[in-house]
Amino acid sequence: MDGMIQGKNILNGKNVTGQEKTEDKNIQKSSGEKCFSGERKWWKEAIVYQIYPRSFKDSNDDGIGDLKGIISRLDYLQELGINVVWLSPVYKSPNDDNGYDVSDYCDIMDEFGTLEDWEQLRDGLHKRGIRLIMDLVVNHTSDEHQWFIESRSSVDSPYRDYYFWRDGKNGREPNNWCSAFGGSAWEYDENTKQYYLHIFSKKQVDLRWDNPKVRQDVYKMMKWWLDKGVDGFRMDVINYTSKVDELPDVKTDEPGYHWGGEYFVNGPRVHEYLQEMNREVLSKYDIMTVGETPNVTLEDAKLFTDEDRKELNMVFQFEIMDLDVGPEGKWQTVPWTLPEFKRIITKWQKGLGNGWNSIFFGSHDAPRMVSRFGNDGIYRVESAKMLATLLLTLKGTPYIYQGDEIGMTNVRFPVIDDYRDIEILNMYREAVYERNLPVDQVMQAIHLKGRDNARTPMQWDDSKHGGFTKGEPWIKVNPNYKTINVKEAMKDPESILHYYKRLIKLRKDTLAFVYGDYDIIDEDNGDIFAYKRTYGNEKYIVVLNFSDKNIKYTLPEKISCSEFVEGNYKVDDKGTDLLELRPYEARIYKIL
Ligand code: GLC
Ligand code: CA
Repeated sequence: MDGMIQGKNILNGKNVTGQEKTEDKNIQKSSGEKCFSGERKWWKEAIVYQIYPRSFKDSNDDGIGDLKGIISRLDYLQELGINVVWLSPVYKSPNDDNGYDVSDYCDIMDEFGTLEDWEQLRDGLHKRGIRLIMDLVVNHTSDEHQWFIESRSSVDSPYRDYYFWRDGKNGREPNNWCSAFGGSAWEYDENTKQYYLHIFSKKQVDLRWDNPKVRQDVYKMMKWWLDKGVDGFRMDVINYTSKVDELPDVKTDEPGYHWGGEYFVNGPRVHEYLQEMNREVLSKYDIMTVGETPNVTLEDAKLFTDEDRKELNMVFQFEIMDLDVGPEGKWQTVPWTLPEFKRIITKWQKGLGNGWNSIFFGSHDAPRMVSRFGNDGIYRVESAKMLATLLLTLKGTPYIYQGDEIGMTNVRFPVIDDYRDIEILNMYREAVYERNLPVDQVMQAIHLKGRDNARTPMQWDDSKHGGFTKGEPWIKVNPNYKTINVKEAMKDPESILHYYKRLIKLRKDTLAFVYGDYDIIDEDNGDIFAYKRTYGNEKYIVVLNFSDKNIKYTLPEKISCSEFVEGNYKVDDKGTDLLELRPYEARIYKIL
């Protein structure tokens, strides 16, 4: 059986002895030096930029973004000032879920390029002092992965136990779980007359982490990338990996399929697995790790991120992302309020103990942050800058999603044919054809919450398709590319892009924004979000107007003796305590 642990590599014909880790003088070393709050670490001081490669830049005009496209924009990233890139999956994949369905972890998707291109990207980033973290998608593999092809071939396959295979019950699926993308979480396989489990699409098959061989194969693959010079991982739904082995039914009298999260979200052995992964892999490298952990509570997050427990550096928590989600789930949008928004931020800023936060307001899975938490109409520029101020002055590692630095907005494609995301397409089919909901209502939900809002191509200039491609893009460009694009933003010193650059520089130059204590001011105020960051003798106050109104506001704390540091409007009332804040105004003061 031992040989089977090596199986992946036998099946893939890959050599796992990676090359030397690339060392580069431009990459800041982890200092480990003490500061006012714990130990300094490069990943705490990092500013991450997420690239969704399919939509970033197309180099060969086939309409699909690719690695060479990213390489052609490295100077742009360097100028922006970010120092870590998180690359959404670039591995071989049949693209049922745009790369989150991996068929070979040790090779690059054909549309994106080759391993040599990837090496060139790595080197280009490192040369510019930018680290590279990869998406690690190991809760599931593609059904086209060799492990699964082998697994489904027979009940006796040595890979059978890599996945969850179960007999049906009373002529139905083994349990009543639904998939995150609609329908049952089980798919029947004619060949062996059993069902397999898929929490996401039927082409994303859940791995059985209780099988030690699965874990060892995953660790081996991780080392392969780390030895190639990867600086860390963003771990896709990593808190779904441990399932209650009996896979019980969701207890309900309701017919149909139900979310079985209670049996696999933060499951029984997840911490044991992460500690093992840390011992065997992560601890051997100077890297950064961030777990994507939907439904995680503050208490769960402490377990994942407490430095003494040796699991992950940080997790993505979704309480802000879930703020406007109604009781019926993500497609039902309810109004959110600023006091609630502030309460969540404050809880996480203050409550994580020995753990570390990640800060994000958008991603490839979420609507555009300016459309959701700002105002993408007349105050688009002001509110995008205001949100940038929040993102870059909180405690925790900030993640900028591609395009947010130029204030890209949600898109409202008129018909379903313009959409590409499997989640959107499945939901539409179910809602319109099975539940007979009105098309208008369904389209409206897609306009508000669909993941394709964030996946339209990056808007580089005002030429056709926003300069993303000269071919036909895989998904249409947001029609507002003529005014919202990088080229325009570069020319205008008052643009969102230049504001991001200034704030990124400010954060990099100011340890108080990274490590300083956070304290909320006036927490019940429904328009203003104000907080202090204190680091030794240094003290900053950030004041954000979240409303589209002029607001007169006096801070409970005197700031007349302070220096205005940065903001999204011109400020001439320095030295007064009464602030006259304009719509979506943001100001940073240094208390002297
Ligand atoms: C994560 C990814 C998302 C993907 C899902 C399944 O939530 O961010 O894009 O669809 O996992 O891999
Ligand atoms: Ca291409």
